[in-house]
Amino acid sequence: MVDPADSAEAHAARVRAFYADYHDRMGNTLGWPDLHAARQTWAAACADPLTDWTAARSVLDVGSGEGHLLGELRARGFRGAYVGVELLEGPHRAAIRRYGDDPDATFVCADFDALDLGHTGFDWVMSLGSLAVRQPDQAACDRRALTRLVRLARTGLVLYVNDRSRVPPAELNDLPDLAAHDLGALCELLAELGCPARNLRWYAADHSVIVHALRLDLDAP
Ligand SMILES: C[S@@+](CC[C@H](N)C(=O)[O-])C[C@H]1O[C@@H](n2cnc3c(N)ncnc32)[C@H](O)[C@@H]1O
Repeated sequence: MVDPADSAEAHAARVRAFYADYHDRMGNTLGWPDLHAARQTWAAACADPLTDWTAARSVLDVGSGEGHLLGELRARGFRGAYVGVELLEGPHRAAIRRYGDDPDATFVCADFDALDLGHTGFDWVMSLGSLAVRQPDQAACDRRALTRLVRLARTGLVLYVNDRSRVPPAELNDLPDLAAHDLGALCELLAELGCPARNLRWYAADHSVIVHALRLDLDAP
């Protein structure tokens, strides 16, 4: 039986609580330190020789926030179908206001952990920050989320996480519920799931890292 503290509802409640007063504490609603850092994140996530956006047919964006990643992808020649899944209604509505006219974009307001996407697959599955809120059962939570993300990805994953070994203690004092990941453990897990990390890109404040991971079966002859 799942401990109620570790249920999908409890996880979602912690994410809601983290972002509920984020604006008051941090002065913005994006979940990034500032707009400059946000732009660096979207650019670092998309700028990689592993990702040919002009050839990609579909992207699933988990924790899509206000939908800005779609703008970055389109600017880089992505013409495929985009699905953004966002838990919080405010950012979800902002994404629709901003990109609702895009005929190949779908925005879903839902808890990804409780959302049934059936057997749908996406060329790329991206998660920029959906693992960034600390959960008491962090390792189990990461395993569950990444197992699902890998299953949904035909080519690979693009993930943003905070590198625990580099996050300044002051930042964790300000944001005690920020999840900071052990990158070694994360990479081991990705390898075990058959989607090893091929490229780690530190940027911005140096503890932000973008992980590009490719499914192993792509290498099969
Ligand atoms: C750091 S913010 C980044 C938003 C967006 N990816 C961007 O780059 O601007 C992370 C987002 O993930 C969302 N999120 C976290 N857990 C989620 C879940 N289980 N299902 C859907 N969205 C989730 C949060 O609500 C938040 O908006």
